[in-house]
Amino acid sequence: MLHQSDLTVNAAGHLALDGADTVALAKKYGTPLYLLDEDMVRARMKLYVTAMAEAFPAGSRPYYASKALCCKALCAMAHEEGMGVDVVSAGELYTALAAGVPGADICFHGNAKTPEDIRYAIASGVGLIAADGQEELERIDRLAGEAGVRQQVLLRVTPGIDPHTFAAVNTGVVDVKFGVPIPTGQALAVTKAALALRNIDLAGFHCHIGSQIFDADPFRLEVDAMLSFMDAVRQETGYTARALDLGGGFAVPYEETEPAPDCAGMIRQVAARLYEQCEKYAYPAPVISMEPGRGIVAAAGITLYTVQNVKSVPGGSTFVAVDGGMTDNPRYALYSARHSAVIADRAGQAQDCRVTIAGRCCESGDLIGENVALQQPRTGDTLAVLVTGAYNYSMASNYNRVPRPPVAALRGGADRLIVRRETLADVAALDL
Ligand code: LLP
Repeated sequence: MLHQSDLTVNAAGHLALDGADTVALAKKYGTPLYLLDEDMVRARMKLYVTAMAEAFPAGSRPYYASKALCCKALCAMAHEEGMGVDVVSAGELYTALAAGVPGADICFHGNAKTPEDIRYAIASGVGLIAADGQEELERIDRLAGEAGVRQQVLLRVTPGIDPHTFAAVNTGVVDVKFGVPIPTGQALAVTKAALALRNIDLAGFHCHIGSQIFDADPFRLEVDAMLSFMDAVRQETGYTARALDLGGGFAVPYEETEPAPDCAGMIRQVAARLYEQCEKYAYPAPVISMEPGRGIVAAAGITLYTVQNVKSVPGGSTFVAVDGGMTDNPRYALYSARHSAVIADRAGQAQDCRVTIAGRCCESGDLIGENVALQQPRTGDTLAVLVTGAYNYSMASNYNRVPRPPVAALRGGADRLIVRRETLADVAALDL
């Protein structure tokens, strides 16, 4: 039940995160509330930084995929712990810069960057822009020229690898909206074009094969495909890439039955393959970057709700309705993603009920989960949904004009607010 490693049951029988009583925190901050174990986040950041520095060529490092949970505090943590920051929009770029992340430590992504995005990225001195295709390269070239800059760029390519993850995050195959495919020959053609652009400094290549990858095998295939491609480019053009970004995608267990991957071990295996392939092609080992998002924050977060009512349909489901839902966690509605849950008030008791956790929106698909194991629920209980640190706050919406919950972080057992709760006035603030 408590497979999230920093969760315990305290002497009062309450669920504790990083030693802090979650029922008390729900009272202090109100619900819904995102709670984040900052110690765990920082430990995960250090783990990736250290593992990559040890395994890969000098200068290799992870970039925090801020889309997983983007706010100033998280960007600042990533910077303090030695990570770069990966952003995919002007909003994420603004947040990272406002958090004090130097432009040079930022990589700007996205498959549909606007001219304004690109101008903003160049003016901010971002270290890298991951270009998504030929048209975009030409646009970056033109705008960099206007700014009097030679912009470092990675070309995003798709290697044609299927990591067998869920469709919404399966990005390595060829027929996707991201990047330029290698197997069709387009990646080589676009690389040649990039090399001819005067305001583009092609640092190397980027690929991201998907999310929720539990072992090193798909990453090893990715390395094989990339080195083979890079060698073909070198033979055709004489160009040697100095940088290779292998994307994000380290899995986290959402349920007890899923294994916790050994990320440092996976990184070592990927590095072993990289050196093997570099030797095979006599290719100078490129500086490696990776972009973990979920792997940094998912397992450090939980969401606390208050149970508003419990309804059983005879012969049907038991609905536990909470004061949040798809507005703060759309993952079940979008991907049928499963999260486990605990009644925080009686966390030590057996989970002998099977329930549907229902959100508050006027929409029957607004569920946080079906067939979820839970203690006997009661109105007024604090209900904790686990492993919500990634892609919850960052995907929250104001549907039904529901204000977004705050985020509180725990460090050494002490709590602080890192994002405040939206007010009703905030929700209507843009209306003219
Ligand atoms: N790099 C790139 C280019 C990406 O597209 C992504 C995720 C990452 C890195 C980070 O992947 P991670 O390490 O977090 O798996 N909303 C979905 C996940 C979408 C992921 C999109 N791209 C969810 O809730 O599962």
